[in-house]
Order: sequence, then C-alpha cells, then structure tokens
Amino acid sequence: MKKISPISRSGRFAGSPAADVAQFTESVSFDWRLWRQDIQGSIAHATMLQKIGVLTQKEMRAIIRGLDAISREIAAGKFKWRTELEDVHMNIEAELTKRVPAGAKLHTARSRNDQVALDLRLWLRDEIVTLLGEIADLQRALVSLGEKNADVLIPGYTHLQRAQPVYFAHHLLAYVEMLERDCERLWDCQSRVNVCPLGSGAIAGSAQPLKRELVAKLLGFVDASGKVQLTQNSMDAVSDRDFAVEFCAAAALLAVHISRLAEDLILWASAEFNFIRIADAYTTGSSLMPQKKNPDVAELARGKTGRVIGNLVALLTLLKGLPMTYNRDLQEDKERLFDTAHTVRATTRLMAAMMLNIKVNRAACVAAASDPALLVTDLADYLVKKGMPFRRAHHVVGKVVALAEKSGPPSRSGAKAGKPLNRLTLAELQSADPVTGTKIFGRDALAVFDLKTAMAKRNLTGAPGTKEVARQLARWRERLS
Ligand code: ARG
Repeated sequence: MKKISPISRSGRFAGSPAADVAQFTESVSFDWRLWRQDIQGSIAHATMLQKIGVLTQKEMRAIIRGLDAISREIAAGKFKWRTELEDVHMNIEAELTKRVPAGAKLHTARSRNDQVALDLRLWLRDEIVTLLGEIADLQRALVSLGEKNADVLIPGYTHLQRAQPVYFAHHLLAYVEMLERDCERLWDCQSRVNVCPLGSGAIAGSAQPLKRELVAKLLGFVDASGKVQLTQNSMDAVSDRDFAVEFCAAAALLAVHISRLAEDLILWASAEFNFIRIADAYTTGSSLMPQKKNPDVAELARGKTGRVIGNLVALLTLLKGLPMTYNRDLQEDKERLFDTAHTVRATTRLMAAMMLNIKVNRAACVAAASDPALLVTDLADYLVKKGMPFRRAHHVVGKVVALAEKSGPPSRSGAKAGKPLNRLTLAELQSADPVTGTKIFGRDALAVFDLKTAMAKRNLTGAPGTKEVARQLARWRERLS
C-alpha cells in the first residue's frame, strides 16, 4: 500500500520520512484543536483568492462547500486525523483536495508559517474572550459571598499574625481588584493578538496582489474603532509569538492570584481558623481518615499554578535563541499555550463555583475579630489626638500591651495568664506613662476597643470601614452586572 506523505514532501523528496521522524515531528495530535480557525482562515483566504482572479467563482464555492463539509465531520467526531500528514493544516488541505480538485489552489500565496500564526491568533482571541467571562463570574461570586456576609468581621493579617479588623467582604474584594487587573492585562494583550498575519507567506509576503485588508476584515481583525489591523513586517509576523507569551504571562499572574485566594480558603477551612465551611460537593474525603473533608479543589487550584508559570518560562526559553524567522521549534508553543488556557479557565470556573458553595462560620469570625489587640493602633491614635507624637504613642501603647500580658490571675503554672486589653483599668492604662499618663488617658480611652465604633471610623477610600465597604460592594455589584 502506498504510504501517505505530506504534500510538502512531494517533488523534492524521494520517499516518506522515517516512521520515528514522522512521530517526532507531527503536531496533529495536539494542533487539531485549531481546526475551526484553520477552516475559518482558509475560507477567508479562498474568498480573497477569487477576488484577485486566482480562483473562479465556481472553484471558490466548491472549496468553501468542501471546507464546510469537513468542518461538520470534525465537529461530529467523524474526521480521521492522519499523523503522517503532520499537522492540522495539512490534514484539512489534503482531505479538501481529495474531494475538491481546486483545493490544490488554496495554498497559493500562503505558507503554513503565516497560516499557523493566523490560526493561533484566532484561537487565542476567542479564548481570551471566554476567559474574561469566567473571571467576571469569579468576581461576581466573590461579591455575592461578600454581600451575603456584609456584616461579618475578621482579623486582617500581616505576616499571618493578627493585625487589624476588616470586613470579610473587604478581604474578598481585594481579590476582585486583583482579578480586575488581570482582565485589563488580558484586554491589553488582546489588542496585540488581534492583528492579521496572513499574507506574510513563509517569510517574505507574496508577489501576488493579495488583498490583506479584505482577509483581515473578513476575519474580524479590526480595532474598537473599526480600523483594520495588519502585521507590518512579514519576517516578524511569521516568527512573532509575543502575543502567546503575553497571554501566558497574564495567565500566570491570574493563576498566582487564584492560588493566593485558594490558600486563604484552605487556611479558613482549617479547624484552627474555622472561618468557612466548603460544601461537601466541593471537598473530598480521605481514603484512610473517615473524619477528613479536604479542600482539594482549592489545593489543586493552587497546585496547577506551577504548570501555568512553567508554561510561561517554557515559551520564553523556546524563543530566546531563535534566529529569524520561522523555525520548527515554534511548533512547541502550542501545547504550552493550550495547557495554560485550559488550566486557567478550568481553575477560574471551579473557584467561582466553589465560592458560591461556601458558608461563613459567623461565630468563629466574631470570636476572632473581637480580639481587642486588633485595635491597639486605635489606642495609639487616641493618644495622637491628645497631642502625643505618634512615635511616643506607639511606645506607650506598647507598654500597655506588655502590661496586659503580665497581668491577670496567675495560671496553674504560676505565670500570669494575661488580661484582655479592654479589661485593663484606667489606672493601669495611665501607669504605662508615668509622666503624662494621668493627663492623656481619660475615661473614654477604653472606648477605642468598641469594634463597631472602630469600624465606623475607617472610611478613607479603600479602607475597611462600614460605609466604605458597603460602597465598594455596591460599586462592584453595579460594575459587574
Ligand atoms: N505544525 C507547524 C507548527 O505548528 C506548522 C508550521 C510548519 N511550517 C514549516 N515550515 N514546517 O509550527
């Protein structure tokens, strides 16, 4: 039986590639994913070839019909991909030409080099739009969880040590902000993805009078104002993968953000924090320990960040030593790009679904947020209001904290158990500053430990105050609707 060889080998080559060479060099096992874009690009190219007289009307129609039929077969899973034909482009072209003789004219003034650049850009353009939708869903899920628990306070942490009280919603909205920047980066990247490389040929364009603008318009390569976007240097166009790197970089940062969110959820779901409960459907059990309910979705969201970062580094490394222009190394871009897109999409979607299946344990949050130590900075501010320089106030309040630690009834071991700061007496407070203590600490000093009042005061833009958090929740609700 005659072996099928890719069309690129006919004429010049005496025989087929060695079997292991074919296996080593093929890409159809992964680039078949570009079939829709490949067909879309071919239809636009054929339309243009007819306009410049390379194809007759009849030939163009036959080609488009043929491509449509192939498209339906692929969508129905009935198309037979052949490894011997190397890649998605050759597979589709070979099948088309088998059915429609004019298919042999389709590759006029086109190379796989500009074809693959086109397909990738078209593919990524759609992918970005879908991903942006998934990110918005995650943002909405965060806002919803914040709204449902709008009155819940938790400690805010620095160094994973309790710092100052914040609304639970404020903590969630921090992620909404991060995700918004991710969206901005993806949109910005989109403007460079959305540029048409077709017509660049293998490296040097074509001597044919191609209508590049027409093809670009047919394929939607226009900016927001409707201006056609064409690559401006044929050599750059076939070797440029910046758009893929940019996407992978934006996606890596998105993955890092989601990983941090996952980490917070994992901590909060632990018995030690106990701030949240993740619904059974979003947790998994242990094969050994019957009591376990593990936050595996969050852990995998965190874990998958590794490969997304790895994909970015792989792409950069792939490009760094490449001479101009297209080199086969570039075939290695696809799996990294596909994997990144797939991974961040799935992760974003799962995180959004999980957020909607989280219950906040109010009692544990109240208990943690009521730690008066969270408000010692407010006590320093109290002294500042009385005219004390902040550095000195910091020192005096430090003394107050030390005093509280040392007071209280002795425990069984004999050491003092410590006294909550808000239980100190006025005299004890005043003793922290022997010189001016009695003057600066008044009866109202202990009122700083009232959480509700404290939260009502923090209303700078971006602060976790009662009014400001409500304003931010409303702002995001509106923006995301
Ligand atoms: N499969 C190839 C890739 O993904 C298509 C381009 C091949 N071009 C070439 N000159 N061999 O990069």
